[in-house]
Amino acid sequence: MKPLIVANWKCNPTTLEGAKLLFNSVKRGIQNIRNLEVVICPPFPYLSIINNQLSIIKLGAQDCFWEERGAYTGEISPKMLKDLGVEYVIIGHSERRKYQQEKDLMIYKKIEAALKRGLKPILCIDKIPQLPSFLRKRGGRRGRNPLRPKKDLEDVIIAYEPLFAIGTGKPCSIDKAKKMRIAIKKKLNKNIPILYGGSVNSENARDYVKKAGFQGLLVGGASLNAQEFIKIVKNVSEA
Ligand code: PGA
Repeated sequence: MKPLIVANWKCNPTTLEGAKLLFNSVKRGIQNIRNLEVVICPPFPYLSIINNQLSIIKLGAQDCFWEERGAYTGEISPKMLKDLGVEYVIIGHSERRKYQQEKDLMIYKKIEAALKRGLKPILCIDKIPQLPSFLRKRGGRRGRNPLRPKKDLEDVIIAYEPLFAIGTGKPCSIDKAKKMRIAIKKKLNKNIPILYGGSVNSENARDYVKKAGFQGLLVGGASLNAQEFIKIVKNVSEA
């Protein structure tokens, strides 16, 4: 698998003009790169408006609901996302766990719904107990999730995001991140890609991939600065 660099714009920028500007600058800056995949996850209102014609850039969403349609005010379904050309969806980000009180079971239902619609869920965890049982090896400690998605689990991606590193400017050390990656991998019943997220910047990006062995990165703050994000992509591409 090609390394995956996911830009999580969170609740930014605050205007469509700003979103277009950021997207177009990133697009220009990485147009010659072929050996990795970049996923841009803007806020929902910009998903259908930013114009993507570059094959290495894929669209991602920052969340989705678990039902397809119906009386669920304010929710966005995987079917709607798929229809807009979205391929990836971040699920269970720690900020959603914190501000929207998302619990593991809700998160697992979202993963199931996303898979059913052919989206690739990026499940964010900061500790091993958050891994659902359907991704764990048999015989190990069971996760808290009773669901059994029927859909193939090959499409799930894990993002290890230690809480202390998210948005703090204090990234996890390469050694500790590597240990966690290995510990997570040991628990998994499939060969699922594991990304690192938490204060990634152009200085440390390459080491998480090259030294700590992650299959890619989830980038928050640094993805809002086009030049910094382009540097991250280039540094990983040259790793
Ligand atoms: P950060 O955010 O890069 O700003 O630390 C990462 C994330 O929340 O996914």
